[in-house]
This record gives sequence, structure tokens and C-alpha cells, in this order.
Amino acid sequence: MNILILGGGGYVGTPLTTKLLENKNYNVTVVDTFWFGNFLEKNKRLKIIKGDIRNSKSNWFSEIDCVIHLANIANDPAVDLNPNLSWDVNVISSIKIIKFAIQNKVKKFIYASSGSVYGVKKEKNVTENLDLVPISIYNKTKMVAERVFMSFKDKINVNCIRPATVCGLSPRMRFDVSVNLLTLQALKKKKITVFGGNQIRPNIHIKDLIRIYEFFIKKKIHSGFYNAGFENLKIIEIAKIIQNKTKAKIKIVRSNDPRSYRQDSSKLIKLGFKTKFGVKHAIDELIDLNKRNKIKVNMSNYTVKWMKKLKVK
Ligand SMILES: NC(=O)c1ccc[n+]([C@@H]2O[C@H](COP(=O)([O-])OP(=O)(O)OC[C@H]3O[C@@H](n4cnc5c(N)ncnc54)[C@H](O)[C@@H]3O)[C@@H](O)[C@H]2O)c1
Repeated sequence: MNILILGGGGYVGTPLTTKLLENKNYNVTVVDTFWFGNFLEKNKRLKIIKGDIRNSKSNWFSEIDCVIHLANIANDPAVDLNPNLSWDVNVISSIKIIKFAIQNKVKKFIYASSGSVYGVKKEKNVTENLDLVPISIYNKTKMVAERVFMSFKDKINVNCIRPATVCGLSPRMRFDVSVNLLTLQALKKKKITVFGGNQIRPNIHIKDLIRIYEFFIKKKIHSGFYNAGFENLKIIEIAKIIQNKTKAKIKIVRSNDPRSYRQDSSKLIKLGFKTKFGVKHAIDELIDLNKRNKIKVNMSNYTVKWMKKLKVK
């Protein structure tokens, strides 16, 4: 099977590519601008194209069976830096991408949307049936892109995965996602700063998310939307788990961040997916890395800081 990963050089894309290449039946093509560097290891079955999805080429999709689309400006503050760029990358490019996929007879299209499309929700079971009330531009671009892709579902199998906030290690590391960020603070500063703390957020370990993409590649699944988050935790609860493991202090600072929602992933679980990893694993992995003096932090681990420096147009 030939798999094209758009954004395969990112935090999720890099270990996803490595994992897929463990399967001798898979050939993988990665298209990425490599804004955060290229951490992909050489492999005979891996083809790397340095390219921008805003200038997508039909031949990227030739002989491809499955596309996994991760190439977006990937968080709220980075999107806010340059909303026009973000709409171009996250939404306008989508039309060309899906049309090329259809023209080249790609069978499956898997899109990394986001659990944040639900906005602020009081419901305990935030299932795929609830209305989307995206509050940030990032969330809005995700919602609109989902709709673009889904409007082609009579021509290609389309699955929009809505991942929770991801945690865990990757060669292209992100320290701006909550569990990774708070654990790093505990390890390096012995203090965890929590803004507010009562906001509830769903979480997913990066290894589980990779297993979900593999699951969708292998199984025949109807076009649709699928939540992918298994641990709904208040930020203060995450901080306390980290505190228990590291003995760091917790400092609470007032916050006006309204984003608070849970995710219910029963639809995915009913298909047969079983979660194996969680927040505690991600924290333990970072603690272990720290013990071995192997944590390296630089500006590119923080998406918005790095994008500001890159001044992408
Ligand atoms: N990390 C999370 O917590 C999380 C949660 C939910 C959804 N997502 C979504 O999953 C996807 C992957 O997220 P990530 O955390 O790996 O982010 P990331 O920023 O590490 O990866 C995105 C990759 O896409 C590339 N890219 C961006 N714009 C591009 C363009 N115009 N052309 C080609 N390549 C481009 C970047 O260079 C980067 O390598 C994103 O779409 C993100 O919105 C992430």
C-alpha cells in the first residue's frame, strides 16, 4: 500500500511515518515544508518531498492508496499570528488536495481535524452528534476544512479524526501542548504554573493517536467524524499527577481562557479501537528522559515562537 502523509515531518507525523514503515507492505511519501526541521530517518520505502500544500502537485498523489493529511498551522496562537496564511494553508489548500486525490483515484482520505471544533461545551458526553461552536480561528479553519473534505464523500472515503490534545515524545518535540509543557516545567523549574486550572480538556497519548491512524488505514470504515480523546482531565488534575511524580510546586494564576470541553470517543471504541497509553505514560517518559539527561529544548519546540521567528508568508 502507498501512503501519502501531508505534514509527515511534524510532531505527530514523524513518529507516525516511522511506525508505518515498520510494516513492510507500506511505502510512505511525506510532503512537508519542514518548518520545524526534518527528523525523519532514511528508509528505502520512504520518499520525502519538501513542498508546500498551498502549491500542491497532482503527481504527489499518483499511485497513492491512502492520504493522511496533517499539514496545518497547528494551534490557536500560531494561527492568530497570521490568519490569512492559516486560512490559506488549513482551508483553501484543502480543495486542491482533495481534488488531486480524487483525480488520482486515491481510495482513502484521513484528515487530522481537532477536538477543539466543539468549542466550550457543558455536556458530559461530547459526541460527534453535537453542534460545533468553534471559538478560535484555528477551530474555525478545522471545522470548515472538515466540511470541504466531507462534501466529497461520494467520490472518496473521507474520515475526519478529531484528536484531543496530544501528549508524549516525538523526534520533532512539542513542549507547547499541556501535558508536555507542565511536565517540563516541573522537571526544569520545580514549579508548575497553571492558568486557571478548572478547564477540562481531553487528552490522547501520541502512540494511541498513531495506532488510530493505522486502524483507519487497515479497516474499512464509513466516511465520518471520529473523536479521538480518552482522558478528560482538568488542567489542575494534570498538574497534580505531575506533582505526585516530581514533587514540584503548583502555582495557580488567574486565566480568562474559556476553552473547556470533554470528548466522548465511544464511536471509535465501538469500532474496536482500544486505548493503550495515557497521560501518565507521557509524564513518565519525560521523567525518564530527564533522568538520562536527554531532554533538549529549543525554540522550535514551541510552535508559535518558532513561526514568529520564521515569519512564514
Ligand atoms: N498536537 C496536537 O495536540 C493536535 C491535536 C489535535 C489536532 N492536531 C492536528 O494534527 C495535525 C498535526 O499536528 P502536530 O502536532 O504534528 O503539528 P506540527 O506543527 O508539528 O505538524 C504539522 C506539520 O505540517 C507542516 N506544514 C504546515 N503547513 C504546511 C504547508 N503549507 N505545506 C506543507 N507542510 C506544512 C509543518 O512543517 C509540520 O511539520 C495538525 O493538523 C494539527 O492541527 C494536533
